[in-house]
Amino acid sequence: MAVELVEPAAGDAGADADALVVFVTAEELASGAWVGQAGLELPAAMVEAVRGLAARGQFAGGLGETEAVPTLGLMPGYQAVLLCGLGEAARTSADAWRDAGVYAARAALGLRLERLAAPLPRAGAGRAQELSERVRALAEGLWLGSYRMPSYALAEAGEAPPLRSVALLGAADEERRGLAPALEAARATALGVYTARDLTNLPGNYLGPDDLARAAQGLAARYGLACTVLDETGIREHGMGGLAAVGQGSVQPPRMIAVRYEGAPEAPGEVLGLVGKGITFDTGGISLKKPDGMEEMISDMGGAAVLLGLIHVLGALKPAINVVIVIPTAENMPSGAAFKPGDVITMMNGQTVEVLNTDAEGRIVLADGVLYAKQLGATRLIDVATLTGAVLVSFADVATGAVSGDERLLQEVLDSAREANEKVWPLPNYPEYRDMLKSRIADIKNATSRDRWAGCITGGLFIGYFAGDTPWVHLDTGGTAWLWNERGTEPLGGTGAIVRTLASLVTRNASAT
Ligand code: BES
Ligand code: MN
Ligand code: ZN
Repeated sequence: MAVELVEPAAGDAGADADALVVFVTAEELASGAWVGQAGLELPAAMVEAVRGLAARGQFAGGLGETEAVPTLGLMPGYQAVLLCGLGEAARTSADAWRDAGVYAARAALGLRLERLAAPLPRAGAGRAQELSERVRALAEGLWLGSYRMPSYALAEAGEAPPLRSVALLGAADEERRGLAPALEAARATALGVYTARDLTNLPGNYLGPDDLARAAQGLAARYGLACTVLDETGIREHGMGGLAAVGQGSVQPPRMIAVRYEGAPEAPGEVLGLVGKGITFDTGGISLKKPDGMEEMISDMGGAAVLLGLIHVLGALKPAINVVIVIPTAENMPSGAAFKPGDVITMMNGQTVEVLNTDAEGRIVLADGVLYAKQLGATRLIDVATLTGAVLVSFADVATGAVSGDERLLQEVLDSAREANEKVWPLPNYPEYRDMLKSRIADIKNATSRDRWAGCITGGLFIGYFAGDTPWVHLDTGGTAWLWNERGTEPLGGTGAIVRTLASLVTRNASAT
């Protein structure tokens, strides 16, 4: 899918497209003001048809509403006008444009409209910043909404064609140049989300630890970034006893992936370490999960998928920041070789973990991941992980939980989430929660004796224990990385949640320096 900016010839019906998308607020629809929109010259009969729809209450301009009006030959080049609601004018922010873009693209897919044209978003006169934010959001939405989950069915008859292009009409030359960075940012971010969704949606038999490592190498190579992969021998040599233990029950050995991006060579001492949980399938191991819904655990590498998606943002937008991405990846399986409850394992820094539950495996691999990121120079740490089912108890599948020991970095993450319009909410980190992880025989245990109490917090604080003095934020996407049903603008299956938050974080960090 491509979003291009096209300047329509005067008096022309516009670009060569299947449908003209008209974004309207509820007020514009009610007052008729939408008719005068820049770049719109609709035949009177079309205007009348839209008025009729509004009068009958079939289309009211609400956010999420779409309605196709056939042109019946009245508008050469267009089969239909696709009406798309922006909601209440007072709330028409960049976020509304992004959401409307998602719904427009979805409607187009459903109607088999392959090429769209739409007038540029409106912004106040002389407000170039607002215009570029809206164009960026709209383009992002159009891309995100045209995502299609892959199908493995042999018979694919009836499969809808993809959305091929959206031309944004009405930009003069100078304006077009000014909007190019906004479109590029949207493209890179959307590509990041696509990559995250695609990887998350891959079944366990299509994606094991070594496949994930190859995917990382491919993405890094595309942008000339350095990528190193430790195999099971390298993992043992580095003393990563946590990752080794979690991976030892599977016939597919674990890997430790690291990707380096150096966008601020003048500040080599500042490195953001991003650590992603890469469990390619989580059976629970010897502490085996219930079979109901276990298939969702193909998404237990959702954190890793987010960070691999972020490579598009780093590689294409080249923000001025140094990043090291670390992904511990393994398959958590029960077998004769698997680690067991009661085992005591030694992590990369020599500290020991008493294993009480092999299903609390994410925190174990992430502890080695965080330690490795520090060894590779990370001075601030963010980990992204489908860590707990407990986060679902707190926030359902609506929000990502944040646990942190550093107010400043936490605030930065929350601000970035707000900017990206993703839902992230902080949880408390009182010392009492950390005390619940005290072990009588080791430095720490991987589950509390009442593992349903404050599970999201204690899971996060286990990772924080290994982050030590380094500023650290943990993002638990156990509820948000994967949805059982499409909801709002979010798709069914892998969502790519947190790609946009981190995209916003790495680019805002860059502009600050
Ligand atoms: N990957 C799961 C968490 C999860 C569960 C994510 C359901 C999304 C949906 C994680 O490895 C896990 O099993 N966590 C346990 C921890 C417990 C044993 C302390 C959990 O949350 O039940
Ligand atoms: Mn588990
Ligand atoms: Zn897991």
